[in-house]
Amino acid sequence: MYKHLQERYAPRPPVNVATLVRMKAEQEKIACITAYDASFATLVDDAGVDLVLVGDSLGMVIQGHDTTVPVTLNDVIYHCRAVAKGLYRPFLMADMPFMTYASKEQALENAVRLMQEGGAKMVKLEGGAGQIEIVEFLANHDIAVCAHLGLKPQSVHKVGGFRVQGRDEAAAEQMMRDAKVLEAAGADIVLLECIPSKLGGEITQSLHVPVIGIGAGPHTDGQILVLYDVLDITAGRKPKFSKNFMTGQSSALDAVKAFTHSVKSLEYPAPEHCF
Ligand code: KIV
Repeated sequence: MYKHLQERYAPRPPVNVATLVRMKAEQEKIACITAYDASFATLVDDAGVDLVLVGDSLGMVIQGHDTTVPVTLNDVIYHCRAVAKGLYRPFLMADMPFMTYASKEQALENAVRLMQEGGAKMVKLEGGAGQIEIVEFLANHDIAVCAHLGLKPQSVHKVGGFRVQGRDEAAAEQMMRDAKVLEAAGADIVLLECIPSKLGGEITQSLHVPVIGIGAGPHTDGQILVLYDVLDITAGRKPKFSKNFMTGQSSALDAVKAFTHSVKSLEYPAPEHCF
């Protein structure tokens, strides 16, 4: 109860879906980042990010797998619960891992677990037209949903690698259609990964809901990066769209502040981060 009152009178109240919609309308860029534990959750909150994702990227950056496919629902719940403890202002979104939303009933059961056990306020799932019924079912149960389009890392074995999506006209038109039907089905946010900037801008313009991009160009309503890429501690090859924000900074907090500032001031992404 006391915490609730504190939040109500806080100078910067917690972000919710309405805040994100307002930011889109007012053309204030939305700064988003991943986190996987309470300490970093507090740090990214202090750095002013608006939205935190407990991504299934944890399979790669925490667990050391080559893909996100081995991540389980219990893994995401464990990390989400820790992140929720450290967050005050940013909106908290959790990934639904591979094959945890193969039917609408399974999706509902697992989304409820992410919210009740993990503390997530929104769930994210990868999918296009095939996930419309699932998004609609979750939305009809008042669950906030983010639909992830473009490069869908859970499909890596099916599409044959981590590749830029939507390059040809037919694929771009299909993605635009998918985005619109997912919005109509009740998606509250759309996330676009690894697509040409032009397409990222066109989809963002066509939707009423906020569109967050990662490797989707400068015209989306917000940007998201994996925290460990921002801090330059990801092992191996870095994706073209990522940027080392530790350069010129002396602490992790300053690096995430630099990321937030660069997103808000439109300095990131620069042309070299785009497709
Ligand atoms: O799992 C993840 O961290 C993600 C982001 C890269 C968008 O889906």
